[in-house]
Amino acid sequence: KFEGLADTPPMGWNTWNTFACDINEDLIKETADAIVSSGMKEAGYEYVIIDDCWHGERDEKGFIQVDPERFPSGMKALADYVHSKGLKIGIYSDAGTQTCAGEPGSRGYEYQDAIRYAEWGIDYLKYDWCNTENINPIGAYSTMRDALYSAGRPVLFAMCEWGDNQPWEWAKDVAHMWRTTGDIYNCWNCEEDHGSWSSWGVLRILDMQDGLREYAGPGHWNDPDMMEVGNGMSQSEDRAHFTMWSMLAAPLIAGNDVRNMTPETVEILTNEKMIAINQDSLGVQAFKYNSEDGLETWFKPLSNGEWAVTFLNRSDEPGKVNFDWESKKIEDPHFDYAVDFSEVTYSIEDIWNEKELKNTKKTLKATVAPHDVLTLRLKKS
Ligand code: GLA
Repeated sequence: KFEGLADTPPMGWNTWNTFACDINEDLIKETADAIVSSGMKEAGYEYVIIDDCWHGERDEKGFIQVDPERFPSGMKALADYVHSKGLKIGIYSDAGTQTCAGEPGSRGYEYQDAIRYAEWGIDYLKYDWCNTENINPIGAYSTMRDALYSAGRPVLFAMCEWGDNQPWEWAKDVAHMWRTTGDIYNCWNCEEDHGSWSSWGVLRILDMQDGLREYAGPGHWNDPDMMEVGNGMSQSEDRAHFTMWSMLAAPLIAGNDVRNMTPETVEILTNEKMIAINQDSLGVQAFKYNSEDGLETWFKPLSNGEWAVTFLNRSDEPGKVNFDWESKKIEDPHFDYAVDFSEVTYSIEDIWNEKELKNTKKTLKATVAPHDVLTLRLKKS
């Protein structure tokens, strides 16, 4: 695979969560414009990703074409437009015969598709797993990786087989990120039944990340799916969702209509300090240190011996934090990071409230609202 494309978790926007198949070139252009004007580009969002349903039919030689009604100017022109804004462009295909929405899949056409994507100027490929009966996943994803590589244009390769084949165990050298679960749903803690499959609320997806953190790192990330920030949850739920994805060093792929965002949504999606925690060069996911009455404490090791700490209140009642740093020794369960607060004092930066919290000498007392977070960065003072 192409090295150096995902040293920190990829950031961008994807059509699917809000628009599903209701997409066209104007939406993509307007979105690229809005990513720039809203400050998202400056905050680090880079990839504009067209999910399922851009496809037309294959031509007589087998090359894939765009849907001429949705994308009348063609993919090359659209890629040029996105690039002219200083952004990158992504598209979507599937390892099977058809995509999840029934469009032509790449099975048997991997090299041809990769050549076409390179001609168009594509920078990112999300590669799905519908209609793959009896296909070997390692073979299928490696074939597309090799096809992209031989086409020569650097492409960030994002696997989407929903964690069905434990990709964390084998995909490190195949892809830059891999989905770990089924689809996210725009709710705090629900399961949404679609008949033959389910999608999942933020807390459900979060809990499904257990046991996976040791497999992620620079260049190869666990992907708990695209974000639902701005799609209808409460402001505190959106904040908690964004925070936990940042703590998990997850790809930050927005899934809302960025042309029409409230100031609150913009504030969440572009919080520089939170994004700095997500993008920290160490690339280590947070671990859950403690859980009590629905209040969880998470620690994320950062570069230069710093830490991010989040108190996540999952419950419907206010959560009381009473954290005596100096009596605590924190040890990363998988990697070689540890801190003994009786020996080192950190100054504290409150990521969302910009409150002065002094340092880790003093016991932290705070209340976290229901479905909300308190997130701190511990800085070497
Ligand atoms: C699957 C994926 C989604 C989306 C759709 C498109 O469900 O998991 O993220 O790409 O397919 O059809």
